[in-house]
Amino acid sequence: MFHGSALLSVRTFVYLFLILSFICCSYLNRVKDPSHWQVTDALPSYGRGIDLPGKRYMSLINGDMLHDVVVTGDNGTIDGQGLVWWDRFNSHSLEYSRPHLVEFVSAENVIVSNLTFLNAPAYTIHSVYCRNLYIHRVTANTCPESPYTIGIVPDSSENVCIQESSINMGYDAISLKSGWDEYGLSYARPTANVQIRNVYLRAASGSSISFGSEMSGGISDVEVSDAHIHNSLSGIAFRTTNGRGGYIKEIDISNIHMVNVGTAFLANGSFGTHPDSGFDENAYPLVSHIRLHDIVGENISTAGYFFGTKESPFTSILLSNISLSIKNSASPADSWQCSYVDGSSEFVVPEPCLELKSFDSYYGRAEAL
Ligand SMILES: *[C@@H]1O[C@H](CO)[C@@H](O)[C@H](O)[C@H]1NC(C)=O
Ligand SMILES: *[C@@H]1O[C@H](CO)[C@@H](O)[C@H](O)[C@H]1NC(C)=O
Ligand SMILES: *[C@@H]1O[C@H](CO)[C@@H](O)[C@H](O)[C@H]1NC(C)=O
Ligand SMILES: *[C@@H]1O[C@H](CO)[C@@H](O)[C@H](O)[C@H]1NC(C)=O
Ligand SMILES: *[C@@H]1O[C@H](CO)[C@@H](O)[C@H](O)[C@H]1NC(C)=O
Repeated sequence: MFHGSALLSVRTFVYLFLILSFICCSYLNRVKDPSHWQVTDALPSYGRGIDLPGKRYMSLINGDMLHDVVVTGDNGTIDGQGLVWWDRFNSHSLEYSRPHLVEFVSAENVIVSNLTFLNAPAYTIHSVYCRNLYIHRVTANTCPESPYTIGIVPDSSENVCIQESSINMGYDAISLKSGWDEYGLSYARPTANVQIRNVYLRAASGSSISFGSEMSGGISDVEVSDAHIHNSLSGIAFRTTNGRGGYIKEIDISNIHMVNVGTAFLANGSFGTHPDSGFDENAYPLVSHIRLHDIVGENISTAGYFFGTKESPFTSILLSNISLSIKNSASPADSWQCSYVDGSSEFVVPEPCLELKSFDSYYGRAEAL
């Protein structure tokens, strides 16, 4: 597991904030005229843009192959002026997929700290094919109505640490990803060794913490602790679908406080679409060895949905010391719904479904693929 020591190798400290403010001004002038907006190739692990097939608009701030860099700004603000992009997304008038606010591609040893990011067109910080990324004391906000805006997206990246940050998004607050179907499988870059700690999260129409649905390169060895999740459609979500391949495994989530959340845990094995028709129907994802413990929830509508599929059931889900107060708890039997999942539970209120009590205790690591 990553403990931040790798970052001590940061050699040069480049304070980019002034440069960023300058880029922002030219960005704000450009944004009104997308024909001036630069277009770039799709990422190889996706094969196309996220919103639309084909190319995508270049991000506002790009860090391609950056290394040993600190992006900081005394809590200064960078405003992505997302509204025009959200309107274009909603009215289906985008020519290419929306730009992100910040994107690091193949970067190494990067610190982003003491900055506030507002109104990202799509993702606020997207890190792809990166190593050693430390995000610290960052605030990222978009309004609840903004379509599919996501805060921080570690994507096919290793050794990522997100700490002491506050993220309030239209869709997901933090989403871990690793490529899409056949493109992600052949690129084969996992997201691994991620620590998320001391974060305040809100996800109006998605999930405060999500895994997938693009996870074909695999996601493993993730620790989330001390998260405060509020006013979110779901708290923690695992999303995948047959055709993805890949895995989500060795995930440990603890010390979570949830308030006003629709579904506390949502694991959906039939979620999301395919990039094109070239995907392999027999590429089944593995979701295994997920540990959720020491969690309290208030004003929760539904405790958990765990829906694996017949071809790829979810296995070894361990729940312990979880106490959720369900509003309108007239029918606690409906608080959990499960199919094609196995796991164990101790000290869980309300009482989980039988599938999640199918063996006595958690065991071993998931077998390697
Ligand atoms: C940074 O700014 C945001 C709003 O712009 C504010 O909510 C937050 O408290 C500030 N953080 C610090 C450490 O000053
Ligand atoms: C961010 O601010 C905190 C508190 O002022 C400070 O300790 C930390 O060093 C700052 N981070 C960077 C990278 O300057
Ligand atoms: C409970 O959560 C719902 C949203 O899930 C919210 O609308 C409602 O105001 C919350 N109630 C309280 C008492 O906070
Ligand atoms: C799982 O995802 C599918 C496809 O998006 C959706 O139709 C279904 O309602 C989801 N199930 C749950 C429990 O959210
Ligand atoms: C159960 O979890 C709560 C936090 O949600 C924690 O304070 C408490 O110590 C845990 N109990 C045990 C027995 O670990």
